[in-house]
Amino acid sequence: MTREPVYPPPEPYTPNFLRRIRRGLYSWFGLLNEWDFRIPVGALRFMGLNLLLVNDPAAVRQVMVSAVEAFPKHPYTLWILEPLIGRAIFSVNGEEWAQQRRLVDQAFQVAQLQRVLPQMEGAVEALMARLEAQVDGGSIDADAEMTLVTADVIVRTILSRPLEGAEAEAIFAAFARYQKRAGRALMLRFLRLPRRRLQGYLATHAAPIRAWIAAAIEARLDTGDHSSERSSPQDLLQALIEARDPQSGARFSRDGLVDQVCFLFLAGHETSASSLGMAVYLLGRFPEVQQRLRAEVLQVLGSRAGAPDRPLGFEDLRQLSYGAAIFNETLRLYPPVSFFIREAQTDTELAGSRCPMRSLVTLSPWVIQRHEQHWSEPNAFRPERFLTDAAPADEATSADDRRWARDAFLPYGLGPRKCPGAAFAQQEALLVLAELVRRFAVLPDPEHEPELVARLTLRSRNGIRVRLQRLP
Ligand code: HEM
Repeated sequence: MTREPVYPPPEPYTPNFLRRIRRGLYSWFGLLNEWDFRIPVGALRFMGLNLLLVNDPAAVRQVMVSAVEAFPKHPYTLWILEPLIGRAIFSVNGEEWAQQRRLVDQAFQVAQLQRVLPQMEGAVEALMARLEAQVDGGSIDADAEMTLVTADVIVRTILSRPLEGAEAEAIFAAFARYQKRAGRALMLRFLRLPRRRLQGYLATHAAPIRAWIAAAIEARLDTGDHSSERSSPQDLLQALIEARDPQSGARFSRDGLVDQVCFLFLAGHETSASSLGMAVYLLGRFPEVQQRLRAEVLQVLGSRAGAPDRPLGFEDLRQLSYGAAIFNETLRLYPPVSFFIREAQTDTELAGSRCPMRSLVTLSPWVIQRHEQHWSEPNAFRPERFLTDAAPADEATSADDRRWARDAFLPYGLGPRKCPGAAFAQQEALLVLAELVRRFAVLPDPEHEPELVARLTLRSRNGIRVRLQRLP
């Protein structure tokens, strides 16, 4: 059986960028062609704009780490997300970003891994109960289930309450509409369609999500003395309310809080849902990987005190090195954020190619992590690449793979803008996957193949269908 799980193969090369934009209206992958997976840097000029795609790992580090100030986030990042997240941390630059990052880092002390584990466990228990109820009814949509569990985790972490039923459905539908339109709006912006019109169109789809979050924040702020431990739960929202910039003494305003929580809700569930959905698909597709993960989980549970049917604890999760390798290999093949865009502030060079001032520089984990020069069998699923102590007998995993796992692996970004939620996402993913394989055998649905589309995040247009069998 081929080790290559599903992916949309790149289109043949065409010099006609307009045709590529037309393909890109549906999914960002439409802009790419097969050459892009072989070259260190691709450059073209379209309607007066210089566009670069940077794959060379040293040039990627230049943009994201060593010369990061010369390559701020591109203004397009701000305006496609502004209707939804305002001027939240993700898309702003300079001192405006630095101050927000100090406040968010402070608030994240609350989201420390051990402290958020009970919230994660609550949401995973609710997930297992939903799966139990569906086990005998044919295939299930793992994508929808992963979206609900990850949104439930982040809502419990931010607001100290679960997310369920009709409320969840309305919010997900609004997010899905926003994603689709935002991807399309980005392509239309390349064609110079007016920004205000495009943003107005996006704002209608963002409105129900912002209203829902604003109401939750108002309710908290209106409970009176919100800095008192007696009246407020010590959750991420409370930490954001109380965070104070040690340099300027500034705090988040009411509007700033809405922006930030909208972004954390988006960042905290869309990305994790995307990767977990694909991980479940891969477990169904590769039964031997699933079996090895189950054996690891049972071995870790059996090696510690307490009944083997107790829930997985903080220390157990840290022992799951094969589980972590599966999740990393999933993030390599299916990076939820499949591209980042930056703007060059000066005339410069990237891996020997001219990069004029104001160029739009794209860095794509999707391309870099499947690049022919970085990875052996780039489209094959081999979690062993990420095992630091892989046995020498594991011939398929070369020393080069391990080097690239360090240099050409950037699902969370790199440098000062790197995702502060990476460890949170990893803990959540291991808990979900370990509890899943412990209770159920995941089987593929022979009638179904995911159809991947890249918009704000990478998702399957037709869901991810698998069958579950309860284990004795
Ligand atoms: C598998 C899950 C996740 C992936 C793949 C992911 C990926 C990313 C990436 C690629 C960036 C930076 C993009 C760039 O440089 O342009 C980012 C930023 C960010 N992420 Fe995540 N993320 C994940 C989960 C989370 C979670 C769970 C949270 C919060 C609980 C979170 C919070 C953030 C924040 C606050 C930023 C902005 C950082 C800044 O601009 O300084 N992420 N994430």
